[in-house]
Amino acid sequence: ESTLGAAAQQSGRYFGTAIAAGRLGDSTYTTIANREFDMVTAENEMKIDATQPQPGQFNFSQGDRVYNWAVQNGKRVRGHTLAWHSQQPEWMRNMSGGALRQAMINHINGVMAHYKGKIYAWDVVNEAFADGNSGGRRDSNLQRTGNDWIEVAFRTARNADPAAKLCYNDYNIENWTWAKTQGVYNMVRDFKARGVPIDCVGFQAHFNSGSPYHSNFRTTLQNFAALGVDVAITELDIQGASPTTYANVINDCLAVPRCVGITVWGVRDSDSWRPGDTPLLFDGNGNKKPAYTAVLNALNGG
Ligand code: G3I
Repeated sequence: ESTLGAAAQQSGRYFGTAIAAGRLGDSTYTTIANREFDMVTAENEMKIDATQPQPGQFNFSQGDRVYNWAVQNGKRVRGHTLAWHSQQPEWMRNMSGGALRQAMINHINGVMAHYKGKIYAWDVVNEAFADGNSGGRRDSNLQRTGNDWIEVAFRTARNADPAAKLCYNDYNIENWTWAKTQGVYNMVRDFKARGVPIDCVGFQAHFNSGSPYHSNFRTTLQNFAALGVDVAITELDIQGASPTTYANVINDCLAVPRCVGITVWGVRDSDSWRPGDTPLLFDGNGNKKPAYTAVLNALNGG
């Protein structure tokens, strides 16, 4: 196959990208995005600050732009993200305790009701674990509402839209030996044991010199999948875009039957949150980079 999406579909997987509403008027961008990808994540437009800028006042204008572009072009959508310590609107940043807990529940219900039945998978909770060697939770206003905030978020989400797969999503959980990876693994194992509804784990896979790709990523994917969840690579970018490293990541997913798909975090290097790292598959002019060819070849089986 000659596009990333079609090549991924050969094994029943998808190949997605983050889409920014502000770039939908750029025809170079939309031409590449429409041709190559079959799954879309809104880069910022479905986050808390975008969807509930004032308490109780939901705004889906930007999220709907991304959603409608995707669906009108035959693509599915991953929802990103419902409960997160970052990109909270000011009113939520200032909340705590039971009021914040209720606000989180209301937010999940409000956003998931708007998109009910339309989202392939939601990143219900994003980045809730701490970096470093603790293997524990990240401190945040949500965490301080009580350690059960994550399972409450998942139970709320299941009730709000039973058709959506419910994911936990994080970064620096790709290396099996890292404490953060073990912390998330233990949480998912506990959730499965206690019947907390969780369907998938998203591995962001932002690889750079500080958190480099390691070949044990495949072990990580296998071990999480063995808990009974889908796994997905949700925000892939690689500092310098080494073709070999990109191919290794693709092959790790292809080696794991429950690795359902791969999403890169942007189209061209100039669209990246880290443009100086030139971490994506297309250069600023929209030309295919060597990493693109490596990814396509891997998806095509060699
Ligand atoms: O839209 C405003 C604009 O009005 C304002 O003038 C400008 C001034 O700074 O900011 C604009 O908002 C920026 C927004 O991106 C849209 O471009 C924010 O400042 C900026 O913080 C925001 O960055 C996003 C970042 O998440 C915020 O946490 C990146 O685009 C986005 O790629 C990044 O994505 C995250 C995932 O959601 C979670 N995993 C990590 C990943 C990379 O950080």
